[in-house]
Amino acid sequence: MGLQENPLYKKHILEADQFSQDDLLFLNTLATSMKEIVEKDGSTDLLRGKAMTPLFYENSSRTKGSFVMAMQRLGGMVGSFEVQFSSVAKGESLEDTVRTFEGYSDVIVLRHPEEGSAHLASSYLRIPLINAGDGTGEHPTQGLLDQFTVAQHFGQLENLQVTMVGDLKHGRTIHSLSRMLSLFPNMTINFVSPKELQLPEELFQELGSRGVRLFETDDLEQVIEHSDVLYMTRVQKERFKNPQEYERLKHHYIVTPEMMKRLPKDSILMHPLPRVGEIEPAVDADPRAIYLSNQVPNGMFMRMAVLYAVLHEGSGQ
Ligand code: NCD
Repeated sequence: MGLQENPLYKKHILEADQFSQDDLLFLNTLATSMKEIVEKDGSTDLLRGKAMTPLFYENSSRTKGSFVMAMQRLGGMVGSFEVQFSSVAKGESLEDTVRTFEGYSDVIVLRHPEEGSAHLASSYLRIPLINAGDGTGEHPTQGLLDQFTVAQHFGQLENLQVTMVGDLKHGRTIHSLSRMLSLFPNMTINFVSPKELQLPEELFQELGSRGVRLFETDDLEQVIEHSDVLYMTRVQKERFKNPQEYERLKHHYIVTPEMMKRLPKDSILMHPLPRVGEIEPAVDADPRAIYLSNQVPNGMFMRMAVLYAVLHEGSGQ
């Protein structure tokens, strides 16, 4: 692979702010190599003999599926764990569970409903832990694959207007991606949401202090024509205490083919998925709609890059 220096070897992957701009460029280069490997040979044995245990305390299709396929395509092993059939159901603590699986694995991938759980779990471990979503906190590998997808399309990460729409309060993919984009020059982020689902104030202030141009509105029409990236998100039903509040807010924004006429020609439409009505299926045929065609496969390539980086010292084969 010809990697000179690997800044992520043996590191936990917990949050967007642990990465420098160089780290992101390093991972994007690595993910591009992984894409080439998969397209050429399907798999490799770069991580032969290494084992990953996915510990998922919350539902997941793409994140878990892509981590499993990523490890297998790298020639590694994957352990299995089903929360409902495990000792977690008997009341076992997170500490005991992760320390147990440390005894079987070289890396643990954790998804958990509580913010901060990944940091906590990593404090018990000597092997790397990868945060695959901690409640409404962060989802760093989704942020990584998203910024990779944007960089791939535009050839760079500068001078872009990124419009993030939907549940910005609870959406952990937004929290990670906005922080990552703030590392690059001349970025504008338009946050579009109903008042109740605005980005947490603290994060808004933090991004502002980094020099990102920020704009907040509840009206997508105000910004769609200036957007290079339109990033839609689902209203996070599982985070609502009041189901009526969710019902009231869930379909605030729906992208239709009509609306796509106002999105510039070279722009892209993204969504971390799952979608539950935010983008009409009729939009899928539009070449700018890249959630299924690019984001999904990039999820696997980026997770291959992350697994390889944390488990392999670095200067190539
Ligand atoms: C996201 C998540 O779990 O935070 N999905 C994903 O990992 N692709 C977004 C979501 O669930 O809405």
